[in-house]
Amino acid sequence: MRTRFKSDIPSSEITSKELFLSRRDFIKTAGFMGMGALLAACAPSGGGGTIPANEVPGEAGAGPLDVLNSFEDITNYNNYYEFSTDKTAVNALSKDFVARPWTVEVGGLVNKPKTYDVDELIKKFQPEERIYRMRCVEAWSMVIPWNGFSLSKLLNEVEPTSKAKYVSFESLYDTQRYPGQKSPFYPWPYHEGLRLDEAMNDLAILATGVYGEPLPNPNGAPIRLVTPWKYGIKSIKGVIKIELVEEQPATLWNSIGPNEYGFYCNVNPNVSHPRWTQSSERRIGELARRPTLMFNGYEEQVAHLYAGMDLKKNY
Ligand code: MTE
Repeated sequence: MRTRFKSDIPSSEITSKELFLSRRDFIKTAGFMGMGALLAACAPSGGGGTIPANEVPGEAGAGPLDVLNSFEDITNYNNYYEFSTDKTAVNALSKDFVARPWTVEVGGLVNKPKTYDVDELIKKFQPEERIYRMRCVEAWSMVIPWNGFSLSKLLNEVEPTSKAKYVSFESLYDTQRYPGQKSPFYPWPYHEGLRLDEAMNDLAILATGVYGEPLPNPNGAPIRLVTPWKYGIKSIKGVIKIELVEEQPATLWNSIGPNEYGFYCNVNPNVSHPRWTQSSERRIGELARRPTLMFNGYEEQVAHLYAGMDLKKNY
């Protein structure tokens, strides 16, 4: 079932890849025509009348259009170091991964710790579609229609105690099933963490599907975190453990490169990575780079979480 959220990219800003490409080609080939008239002529029904100029990439007005990436894009260009550091090899290497049975242990500073079977979670929390931008710290991005449920639903169920300040996440450790975990260069298993108020924000979901299909192996089957205002690094795949803790938890990338990857990893065009700019990004499927948006475009929903914080220090 499709539920629209304020947090979603508005439907007026999303179009199918096919429609987008044909519209763009049409506009390019008809370049001599008045842009306003042309845009109005192409307006989709129910999208609020005319298409704003910023929906046309590379045209006057900037602020480019968001277009859903295809299932092929989403499942063939993946960071999943448990399988490989080669993004284009993950799909083939994860083909035989069997993501069932699978349990998620939720515990630590909670009143009601519980280990859930993943299918019990799916049945209980009824995933809905959430279309989010996904911005990798490496400065590429996609738009992905996830199926998932708010992490807050699960956290409320186990009742964090007043001592709980952070949430720590852990991925599966299994060198038989994850060939990449034989690499000695990474402190396996993958760990991530959020402040409790970040974790309770409605945008943070546990995703169990993409395009209405069960979560594909390259995307972290059977269950992964998605925090769309943060770099993709935080969206930990193959989650087996969620622990409420008092102190800020260690994360894999922060422990390897503390100067390059902080705890927060909020998308921020004004704070560059030491080795590359974060002010623009390459949307998979597009040629021209596009400007990176503050908090990946989710400022309205999350900026209050960081009020008064120096985001250059807390990167
Ligand atoms: N989770 C695990 N367990 N292992 C990983 O290597 N890579 C992260 C994140 N979650 C990673 C992970 C990074 S760097 C990114 S950009 C996203 O997954 C990519 O998610 P996607 O492949 O579904 O687009």
